[in-house]
Amino acid sequence: MTVKQSPAWQALEQHYRAQISNLDLRQLFDQQADRFSSLSFQQPGLLLDLSKQRLNQQTLRLLIQLAEQQGLDSWTKRLFDGEAVNSSEGRAALHTALRAPRGRDNLAEGVSVTADVHANLDKMAGLVEKIHNRQWRGFSGKPITDVVNLGVGGSDLGPQMVCHALEEFRVEAAADLRIHFVSSIDGSQLAELLKHLNQETTLFILSSKSFTTIDTLANADTARGWLEEKIDNPAILLRQHFIGSSANPQKMSEWGIDPANQLQFWDWVGGRYSLWSVIGLPIALLVGMTGFRQLLGGAHQMDQHFQTTPAATNLPVLLALVGIWNHNFLGSRGHAVLPYDGRLKYFPHYLTQLEMESNGKSVNRDGDRVDYDTCPIIWGEVGPNAQHAFYQLLHQGTQPVSCDFIAPVLRYRENTAEGTGETLRQQQSLTLANCLAQSRVLMLGDHALSDQERRKLTRNDQRYPGNQPSSTLLLQELSPFSLGQLLALYEHKVFVQSVIWEINPFDQWGVELGKQIANKTRSAIDQPDYRFDESSTDGLLDFIGQIQAD
Ligand code: F6P
Repeated sequence: MTVKQSPAWQALEQHYRAQISNLDLRQLFDQQADRFSSLSFQQPGLLLDLSKQRLNQQTLRLLIQLAEQQGLDSWTKRLFDGEAVNSSEGRAALHTALRAPRGRDNLAEGVSVTADVHANLDKMAGLVEKIHNRQWRGFSGKPITDVVNLGVGGSDLGPQMVCHALEEFRVEAAADLRIHFVSSIDGSQLAELLKHLNQETTLFILSSKSFTTIDTLANADTARGWLEEKIDNPAILLRQHFIGSSANPQKMSEWGIDPANQLQFWDWVGGRYSLWSVIGLPIALLVGMTGFRQLLGGAHQMDQHFQTTPAATNLPVLLALVGIWNHNFLGSRGHAVLPYDGRLKYFPHYLTQLEMESNGKSVNRDGDRVDYDTCPIIWGEVGPNAQHAFYQLLHQGTQPVSCDFIAPVLRYRENTAEGTGETLRQQQSLTLANCLAQSRVLMLGDHALSDQERRKLTRNDQRYPGNQPSSTLLLQELSPFSLGQLLALYEHKVFVQSVIWEINPFDQWGVELGKQIANKTRSAIDQPDYRFDESSTDGLLDFIGQIQAD
């Protein structure tokens, strides 16, 4: 029996048909006077409002029964106990151990990891201190001014997103340190950046869990070649200008990373869950180790909440279950992530990897094809900008879509440029007003207007149907701690959904074939007479060959 045929799933389908399908959000609010208070949930500094979801208390009860039926409690225990929940690779997925405080023992498949985690954090702290104190010098003796993180996927998206979000928390010791992120295999980011950097004062971090990712290694080779133009001593070049962060020390050594500059993490940390490890070095350089530890502290607070709170008030569980409801029962095709704060600009990009690489699967843990939808298409953008781009589809398109609105409440209380404080605070009010207005219009459609105003809408293209569900997540303010809470909230949401869908969220076999075929295709580009057995790729290769030959 698949989960779709299970009693809890069937009960939800029946409930949808009997109680929800004919009701829209306006009617749900009419039916329940205390809808906001009974469907909003808090944790320190956070509020999650689910009242604009198309569901009632009975829906939540049935969704929780589905989670129980799927063994959520026991899967959560297995996750935190460090069992090999990543079944296809036979590994634990113990990112929670990376943010557990010293003194709390964590086991990955029965082996304690606590000492290793803290030893590597301490080693990272030592490197951060050296760079901050200007003791880390380039080959000519000058202190480092620019740090370039070379990585892709989880070795780029997480640290880049956090660094952008926490720029206001930059420590004094990093006041003059510029931190750059380079990921693209085509070298376009690096080529442009190197024009503005100085070999004497640039330090590269090679961030790669596997240390075999061609995108990162290609950029690393270009960076090394650029340094070799000025430095003829390879040992000094490597020692003074490269740090490696990886779960593969052997490959780091083969590439030439000096053992003193090797920061390590482990197979049991998934790439997209790795910003809490030494992959977070750029974050620690920006906000200092104290700020980095606050980020870990926020995530740990959410870990504990997730681990110990009953489902009915457990934020990650509830966020996951409403996602299941929207996607599997209401037929929502996509999910938009809409932060109302420019500092969270990269958050939707980061989430696309976290959610779609984790749960974009069509085979269950037993290797059988599933007969239900798994992860929806996730996309997003800074909300107010997206209003002027794709919200048209949310309001008047033909697809049912769900949204997460995310906004910090307090902003610009200090540290604004002279003369800007008051107007910036007004901009923050404007932003919050837009956030609330959009979720309200999605919910009510043109019923958000007065009856008199509505009567003036005479044409269909002026009408808004509404009834599009959304969640709103308000943070008291954005800080290293609250960002840690936010990220762990979504990590656990993804895990809960994987348990309901019976899939392994910790592997990503779907990206492997593309890597293999890219290697073969590379040979084809280098050998003009190479032939594939289909005419499209051969035709494109011929065209490339002709242009390259001219
Ligand atoms: O190709 C996908 C992937 O393996 C991601 O899961 C990972 O975050 C990214 O590539 C980068 O991998 P690595 O950190 O090993 O270079």
